Amino acid sequence: MTNTETEDKNTKIQKTANTLYDLLDHTDIPFVKDISDFLDNNYGEIGQNRISTPNFSALIVSRFLTNHSVLEMAAQKYGKDLQVIELGAGFTPHYLNIGTEINKYIEVEFEENSKIKEEVTKTLTQNKNIYFVGGDILSLSTWNKIESLIDKNKPVFIFSEGTIAQYFNSEQKEFVASMMKKLMICEGSIFALDDTLRNHPELSDNPIIKEGMGRIVSISGNNIYNKEVTTFKDEFEKWGRLLGTENYSVNYVLSKPEMDFAIESLKLTVCAVDNNKDLSSELIKLSNENKNKRIWK
Ligand SMILES: C[S@@+](CC[C@H](N)C(=O)[O-])C[C@H]1O[C@@H](n2cnc3c(N)ncnc32)[C@H](O)[C@@H]1O
Repeated sequence: MTNTETEDKNTKIQKTANTLYDLLDHTDIPFVKDISDFLDNNYGEIGQNRISTPNFSALIVSRFLTNHSVLEMAAQKYGKDLQVIELGAGFTPHYLNIGTEINKYIEVEFEENSKIKEEVTKTLTQNKNIYFVGGDILSLSTWNKIESLIDKNKPVFIFSEGTIAQYFNSEQKEFVASMMKKLMICEGSIFALDDTLRNHPELSDNPIIKEGMGRIVSISGNNIYNKEVTTFKDEFEKWGRLLGTENYSVNYVLSKPEMDFAIESLKLTVCAVDNNKDLSSELIKLSNENKNKRIWK
């Protein structure tokens, strides 16, 4: 690789690994340091320049902890039947931190990142139930690969931290929803939608939000952050319609106090195949627990 190609690759990894560095700075979540050390040792000191503003790190930490709380709830409930799909997984340590044995875990990412994630994960676990699907989430061939790994008679938990809500336009969201709907057949299947770092009209006048979004938009080079302006309520209702599911809201875990105003307005959207209303009380309990939890250092 030429020097410019190496620099390009490292910049791309840094964008994808932003969560990892915010977790490293502000939490003690296991495996975060191992993964960031691996990236630093193999790809240079890529974590040196943080992408989040100091206040926006709070949103990243809260969204990770909240997605993980719902994932853990599903893992405990469905155990060896649960199949997880993490879309746009980047370098998150969700899989490595699941406390209950599950059926399988599928991480979907662009090929280049997926290979690196597979390499680092294999240095940290001997488990055989983790699969890495390298490919574009917007391509049918990627979904064919995912489908071939899924047993539709067992519950499927899909989540997408910082990817679908932030990167895809309406048409692309409809495509992804149609692909997910084909897999979410079994009672108990869930799609958890993180809807934090996006242009929300409800929050966009706040100077902290303006500053943080401005930085993310300029660094990511992704104009969807700015262009797609919809309210939380519209998105919440839209996903219920697209997937034909019961929809629940789950409170985010609190992190940096200065960002409580935003964390308290944001909710994780949980779309569930829950005809028997079996998940309702567990999600309400979890939501109440999250509201009273703060993790920040
Ligand atoms: C903002 S990052 C979030 C990464 C990770 N979920 C996290 O929380 O750290 C978005 C991720 O989605 C991936 N991504 C974006 N569009 C994608 C696509 N069309 N197909 C596959 N991966 C995609 C990017 O490579 C990146 O890792």
